[in-house]
Amino acid sequence: MITKEQVLEALRDVRDPEINRSLVELNMIRNIKIEGKRVSLDVILTIVGCPLKAKIEEDVIRAIKALGAEEVEVRFGAMTEQERAALSAQLRSGQQPGQPQALNPILGEGSKTVFIAITSGKGGVGKSTVTVNLAVSLARMGKKVGIIDADIYGFSVPDMMNIEQRPTVIGELVLPVEKFGVKVMSMGFFVEDNSPIIWRGPMLGKMLRNFFSEVHWEELDYMILDLPPGTGDMALDVHTLIPQSKEIIVTTPHPTAAFVAARAGAMAIRTKHEILGVVENMAWYEAKDGSKEYVFGKGGGAKLAEQLGCELLAQIPLGQPDNHPADPDYSPSIYPADSRIGTLYKQLAERVVEKTEVTAS
Ligand SMILES: Nc1ncnc2c1ncn2[C@@H]1O[C@H](COP(=O)(O)OP(=O)(O)OP(=O)(O)O)[C@@H](O)[C@H]1O
Ligand SMILES: [Mg+2]
Repeated sequence: MITKEQVLEALRDVRDPEINRSLVELNMIRNIKIEGKRVSLDVILTIVGCPLKAKIEEDVIRAIKALGAEEVEVRFGAMTEQERAALSAQLRSGQQPGQPQALNPILGEGSKTVFIAITSGKGGVGKSTVTVNLAVSLARMGKKVGIIDADIYGFSVPDMMNIEQRPTVIGELVLPVEKFGVKVMSMGFFVEDNSPIIWRGPMLGKMLRNFFSEVHWEELDYMILDLPPGTGDMALDVHTLIPQSKEIIVTTPHPTAAFVAARAGAMAIRTKHEILGVVENMAWYEAKDGSKEYVFGKGGGAKLAEQLGCELLAQIPLGQPDNHPADPDYSPSIYPADSRIGTLYKQLAERVVEKTEVTAS
């Protein structure tokens, strides 16, 4: 005879895929009834129409059948507003507001998360493209990766990764959206119809804090921050909130672009952020006959790396990902793993891992 205790014990290993905690711990299992080899129960989801319902159902049924049950009936319900608030408080406990270190466990002292801010001196050089492709390449290596789209006005990460899903909100806690194995948070998730956002400076600093205090990040190996162009407020906020952050500076190969990017580098040096290196993007155009045309000039990345005393981590040529909107995995900006540029991003990710693992030990 199966007992309730056995059922609960078996369900302890079944996790809510979004929150990554046991359904039992989250108090989502109710009304267990056992009649011989037939078990029925309620699973109370965080929201009605939870997109991961089918996965949860499958996991619950499998766990209970493993106990010897022949028939399992799962009824779904949704938490009340009050229950969601309580859960949000439970998930946030241990995160004391006010203190930067306690804003989120991943910012705390024991955290092993490596933060990398992607910066540049000027706009349009490919920071966001480098952010999403570096993040996805790290995830392809099996790393746990998050992206904060810290370009509050000019957010582009959701579109670049083709994320149509919106984050789940539990009480006051927001769960990041996962795509290509990367957890993503962006202001773009909270803006209707792509309407422009007009905020004042002080709000921006708060925004970055909110991305930690109100978002349920799991323990991550890497958190990549896509910064707005230039050396503005956001760079300072990153410094205040994440003094341990490392930086990658993106430039085009033109010597003038590298000169402007050097300012971002100077800022990093002033804030004592370790510069992991330079990525030269749009480095050349490769013609069909294999010859390289240096459309945007030549040598800027190497020159900048030399000036900053750091490494030229990668040179990425011009080229759009060969992705088709009809593909189930379509995204406008992620280069497929086996493509030419995808391979260069894989090498960049490997180099980043090497460098950060060395500094970590
Ligand atoms: N290697 C490349 N080859 C071709 N197009 C590229 C390449 N890298 C980036 N692009 C394109 O250039 C444009 C600018 O890139 P991206 O948005 O990544 O730059 P950014 O530095 O983040 O810009 P912003 O400063 O506006 O945030 C985008 O349309 C992007 O698709
Ligand atoms: Mg950008």
